[in-house]
Amino acid sequence: MLYTPTPRAAPNPPVPPLPLPELYSRVERHVPPFEWRILADDIAAILKLKREKNAVILAHNYQTPDIYHTVADIVGDSLALAREAVRTDAEVIVLAGVHFMAETAKLLNPEKTVLIPDLEAGCSLASSITAEDVRLMRARHPGVPIVTYVNTSAAVKAESDICCTSGNAKKIVEALGVPKVIMLPDEYLARNIAAQTEVEIIAWMGHCEVHERFTADDIRDLRATHPGVTVLAHPECPPEVVAECDFTGSTAAMADYVGQRRPSRVVLLTECSMSDNVALQYPDLDFVRPCNLCPHMKRITVPKIRRALETMSHEVTVPPQIAERARRSVERMLAFG
Ligand code: 13P
Ligand code: SF4
Repeated sequence: MLYTPTPRAAPNPPVPPLPLPELYSRVERHVPPFEWRILADDIAAILKLKREKNAVILAHNYQTPDIYHTVADIVGDSLALAREAVRTDAEVIVLAGVHFMAETAKLLNPEKTVLIPDLEAGCSLASSITAEDVRLMRARHPGVPIVTYVNTSAAVKAESDICCTSGNAKKIVEALGVPKVIMLPDEYLARNIAAQTEVEIIAWMGHCEVHERFTADDIRDLRATHPGVTVLAHPECPPEVVAECDFTGSTAAMADYVGQRRPSRVVLLTECSMSDNVALQYPDLDFVRPCNLCPHMKRITVPKIRRALETMSHEVTVPPQIAERARRSVERMLAFG
């Protein structure tokens, strides 16, 4: 009988190299290779579309690392995004963030096309108050200036005297030179600022659905289970949380704190992607990760950004009669630097 050798199994085909290797190196500690292979086609298309359409992508610090570290041109907190919206000479702005951020960009760039990849990307603070509520507050407290957080609709900004962000709220409140202000709509931001100033603050009852969930007990547990941890908290957290943390500031201020102080072990009590993005920049630091997801921010994805540029939608517009007054409130804020 003739001997027939068993056929050898075919060798595995060689694994093709990962696409866009330079960009991948920025996120490889967060995005597994199989996921990158799926994303890379959209990312390459976005880079091409940006060039073709003279578009810029402004991304908030809560965007996921694939957006934040690969397709975004400018990243930052709400204040930085508003400032950059004024500076850009691109014809199209894609706002990778929530609706009020896109509206602010549009207010500052009425002649430009401002796109948001998902129209449903809202904000619990913005939906906690209407223009009619602001008019009622003004009637109830005649002569008291109204300082409105940028996390509001253009219609609410239009009824206000000046805007603020978490990055400049104390400065704005004090710069008005009055003993009392109304600060809308975030109750916790208002109370946290009130704890740092002599100015009396009348607050509204809006809350951020992400930050209101952190508790002072969370911080005590963290300190017990992660000795030496430095705790940073966003000022939208309840005052009892802020009282127990080591530093409070806007998303940009928290990132700066980590970059400058380099705490060996740190927790950011804020939206989850913020830690992911900062951790990719500082691989030697130990990031502890209790965090909360913002469902609105998470509506923005790489495929939706591609679609926004391909279809030039969803275009954000503000009715002219609202836009003019809302712009004034935002520009007054920006004039304070
Ligand atoms: P920052 O202005 O600090 O980026 O905050 C915006 C925001 O929506 C926080 O929840
Ligand atoms: Fe609004 Fe809170 Fe989400 Fe920021 S984290 S966009 S304040 S719901």
